[in-house]
Amino acid sequence: MITFEVITIFPELVEKFATESLLKRAVDKKLLKITARNLRDFSLEKHKNVDDSPYGGGYGMVLKPDAVFRALKKVAGLKPANKKFLPSRGTKIILLTPRGKRFDQKMAAKLSQEKKLVFICGRYEGIDERVAKHMANVELSIGDYDLMGGEIAAMVIIETVSRLIPGVIGKPGFLDDRCTKDGFFESAQYTRPAVFSPQKAINWKVPRELLSGDPKVVKAWRQKHGKTVGKP
Ligand code: ADE
Repeated sequence: MITFEVITIFPELVEKFATESLLKRAVDKKLLKITARNLRDFSLEKHKNVDDSPYGGGYGMVLKPDAVFRALKKVAGLKPANKKFLPSRGTKIILLTPRGKRFDQKMAAKLSQEKKLVFICGRYEGIDERVAKHMANVELSIGDYDLMGGEIAAMVIIETVSRLIPGVIGKPGFLDDRCTKDGFFESAQYTRPAVFSPQKAINWKVPRELLSGDPKVVKAWRQKHGKTVGKP
């Protein structure tokens, strides 16, 4: 069982995601657990404020470090160890930020071996640097673009990692066909009808090879019309 914890000021966004489709089934089957934590619940301020203006001036607001620290103490078991603060064993604290290391399939395979992944979602113009420096174990980005916050990035990573947990998708062994430890093979796919006519005199056909019934021919065609994604 792998546990995902998401620290966010929009917990409903993540809760909705965790209660739909295959992820919900996986949660019901106890293959994984997804919990959204409202950062505001860890604020000691009267109005549950979690942000403030940046030192040195500048545009927008910055998430403060104290509520994040308290949230991590609770959900990641963050504790002092040799002048540093470390999470419980088997727990990884991930800060989502566009400047982070690029997330890919290989990283997903590695993360799927952990017991618990704790995501910190930035919002506004950023998050106090002491979170990256002293609390997070790794900073991850899902691509070179700036989202409004880390929530969508956390969900991308959760979905990619979850697919690798045995039993979450398809029939057993399905993943083994396509996945290696470094990536996966993505081929073109077709289903019925064998000929689709969107209008008169236009016939979009399924390739002959896939209808051949010969596994060797099918395999060769798939190899030719696919790509391995995520291999270094
Ligand atoms: N937060 C904002 N943009 C992001 C990105 N591209 N990846 C991860 N977290 C983000």
